[in-house]
Amino acid sequence: MTLQELLFTQGFGTRRVCAGLVQQGHVALLEGDRWVSCDDPWLEVRPDEGWPYRVQGLPWAYHRHAYLVLHKPAGTECSQRPSTWPSIYSLLPAPLRQRPNKSAVQGVQAVGRLDQDTTGLLVLTDDGAMIHRMTSPRHHVPKVYEVGTAQPLDASVVTRLLQGVVLHDDPSPVRAAACELIAPQHLRLTLTEGKYHQVKRMLAATGHEVVSLHRSRMGQLPLPADLLPGQWRWLSAQELAAANSPLAA
Ligand code: URA
Repeated sequence: MTLQELLFTQGFGTRRVCAGLVQQGHVALLEGDRWVSCDDPWLEVRPDEGWPYRVQGLPWAYHRHAYLVLHKPAGTECSQRPSTWPSIYSLLPAPLRQRPNKSAVQGVQAVGRLDQDTTGLLVLTDDGAMIHRMTSPRHHVPKVYEVGTAQPLDASVVTRLLQGVVLHDDPSPVRAAACELIAPQHLRLTLTEGKYHQVKRMLAATGHEVVSLHRSRMGQLPLPADLLPGQWRWLSAQELAAANSPLAA
């Protein structure tokens, strides 16, 4: 592909904008161990996954698809058009929000949403097939939540959540795949479905109010310990596969 096309696929704007970036000397390529500015938008490049380049002095790497992990902070909406709170997408650099896509939505999208006040692990990608697989109800990816409640819980609540509770708009019971009482007001809950407000509604069915909710794991991918609220980083394909895998027994 040409250098212009590479920048276009990575979200740096229209093909015309990308050609302009190159012609104005904003793009540098690695030659041996030196960064050299390149002003030819039609230069043929053969990027492998991770191929390095710079735009306006910032380092980037070519990725055919973007796979990211974000530590969602409280007070953010998982929507491209938020109604009340800032969007999680505002935490990402513009090229990741602008990567061209065959679908109507541009850029990376969250694989399943979290509520405004929920914190923790979010995976984002522009790989539509991956989003479809991971969010399909037939694909039971286990998600682990740390749940804080207003009132102390006892063992009977754990039993009820494991046996199944009925949500008011749905006659078939939903059960937790795993549930552990960590402290009197702290439950670790594993769900394999992703129904609307599922954790809060399951706890409400047992008479409890959720006061804090944090997703700590998807499949075998824990929220990276070094990722502070609001921070994101690239995931490797292996990490993404881990997010997609059943929990180890
Ligand atoms: N369940 C909820 O109630 N809220 C979330 O954000 C995620 C799961």
